Amino acid sequence: MQRCIACVLLVLSTLLLAGCPTNMINNPDSIVFPDSAVSFRNHVQPFLGTRCMPCHDNSNVAGGIRLTSYSNLMFDRPNLVVQGSPDQSLIVLALEQQIAHLSGNFQNIPSSQIRGVRTWVAEGAMNN
Ligand code: HEC
Repeated sequence: MQRCIACVLLVLSTLLLAGCPTNMINNPDSIVFPDSAVSFRNHVQPFLGTRCMPCHDNSNVAGGIRLTSYSNLMFDRPNLVVQGSPDQSLIVLALEQQIAHLSGNFQNIPSSQIRGVRTWVAEGAMNN
């Protein structure tokens, strides 16, 4: 009987782990950007997915911008992300409050995360 329970627990925990892809993060504060080699999959996408929703998803599309996938970031709006040029990228300028973002400001976002997005763009905004 005990072995049976152990088996059930093992199966359950495997299912739980398998069901949690790394970019399914719901606490934005848990995302730690490195100083270099920022990853789209591990840092930028979970950051946007927690901080910028539900306004910029596929059903709301605020300002004509979806921040849900790499290709949306590249193609929804010219200059949303300019590879290698954070100073021309609307996403960075908005986060740094250099351009207006009428629907709330980003004051509660840690500067380390904003710097992380800037670094990702500066490093070429790769789909990495
Ligand atoms: C509460 C809803 C809401 C949230 C959350 C939100 N946005 Fe927006 N965003 C809007 C709306 C509405 C617009 C269009 C009007 C405007 O420019 O403010 C917009 C516009 C923008 C623009 C285009 C600005 C321009 O000058 O055209 C950018 C870039 C942007 N958002 C980035 C972000 C990023 C990055 C996040 C997350 C860190 C985010 N937004 C979170 C509602 C939101």
